[in-house]
Amino acid sequence: MRFGNVFGLLFAALVPVTVSACEGDCIVGITNAFLTNYTSPIEFVMDNVAKQISNMLPAHPGLETSRNYLRPILDSYENDAYNGMETAIFPSYFHGKCQQDGVDPPGCPNPDCPVVCGTPGSLVHFYGKLRYIAFNQTRYHLQTLATPGSDAYKQVEQAVLDADGAKTRRMIRIYERSGPYGTVPSFLTKREDDTRTKLQDIMRNVGSMLLQTCGGSEDGETNGLADCSWEKAMKEYILSFP
Ligand SMILES: *[C@@H]1O[C@H](CO)[C@@H](O)[C@H](O)[C@H]1NC(C)=O
Ligand SMILES: *[C@@H]1O[C@H](CO)[C@@H](O)[C@H](O)[C@H]1NC(C)=O
Repeated sequence: MRFGNVFGLLFAALVPVTVSACEGDCIVGITNAFLTNYTSPIEFVMDNVAKQISNMLPAHPGLETSRNYLRPILDSYENDAYNGMETAIFPSYFHGKCQQDGVDPPGCPNPDCPVVCGTPGSLVHFYGKLRYIAFNQTRYHLQTLATPGSDAYKQVEQAVLDADGAKTRRMIRIYERSGPYGTVPSFLTKREDDTRTKLQDIMRNVGSMLLQTCGGSEDGETNGLADCSWEKAMKEYILSFP
């Protein structure tokens, strides 16, 4: 293996390189381009979720307030999105140089060689796949955070229960004045469980809301995800790398 690498280095030094792999700035730039373009569909989905949460709460808080309940999910998403996206696109599918042990497999580098190269040309050639990877990663990450079990979800749930509680406490005071005291705890537990369930019902649709927002069709290979494609601008951007 060590010899392979030495030969690879010698080759790289002696043979003029005409096709460069997407590395460094190219990887960072393309990863960030998808993350940036996805901010608007994500915001659209989260606003939709915020409205549904507002509808389920007795006080019907305004959009800003219910957006704040969701803040832990967005903060967590923003913290981890870069690493997740870079990994999903690059090592996982587009493999930098096509070379194996420093040698191009037969027919490489061209976009259809047996290893999918991470050259800008290859990213453009397989744009349908690239677009799908970016979508799938975004949906997977958001849906994971919007599922009970994540820390972010726990915080959102607590905020919603607290918001619901203001009304509950008022109802309990009325209840205490008018009814037998002994049944209050089960009344409270039932209401909290209902609120948890309603929140889960809203949140489990985050992934499919993103799919709808992106145009509805999941066919990654051809022309699906029409509203999260950005094909022309993205291809131009990708080809701006050498
Ligand atoms: C998507 O990203 C590309 C490359 O950065 C950019 O040119 C384009 O304006 C972006 N489109 C949207 C809608 O954000
Ligand atoms: C979607 O993304 C997840 C998380 O990165 C990954 O495990 C899964 O294999 C991807 N699905 C497809 C069809 O690429």
